[in-house]
Amino acid sequence: MSIKVNEELCIGCGACVSLCPDVFKMNEAGKSEVINPASAEATAGKEENAACAKNAAESCPVQAIEVHPVK
Ligand code: F3S
Repeated sequence: MSIKVNEELCIGCGACVSLCPDVFKMNEAGKSEVINPASAEATAGKEENAACAKNAAESCPVQAIEVHPVK
């Protein structure tokens, strides 16, 4: 699973951070970022975080979150 936030699209609404505080955080620019991109796979490997990230992706008003299964 790979989780990415497109900062160009993110408007900082915060829905993802509220839904998945273990996966997303707000950065200094007021945009969401994946807490540990280097280990996003490991993070998302936890079932609940993967489900949560998908939920956040669907809840994001600007579709800034990409969740992809890694082959
Ligand atoms: Fe940004 Fe969407 Fe999260 S706008 S703060 S990525 S819910």
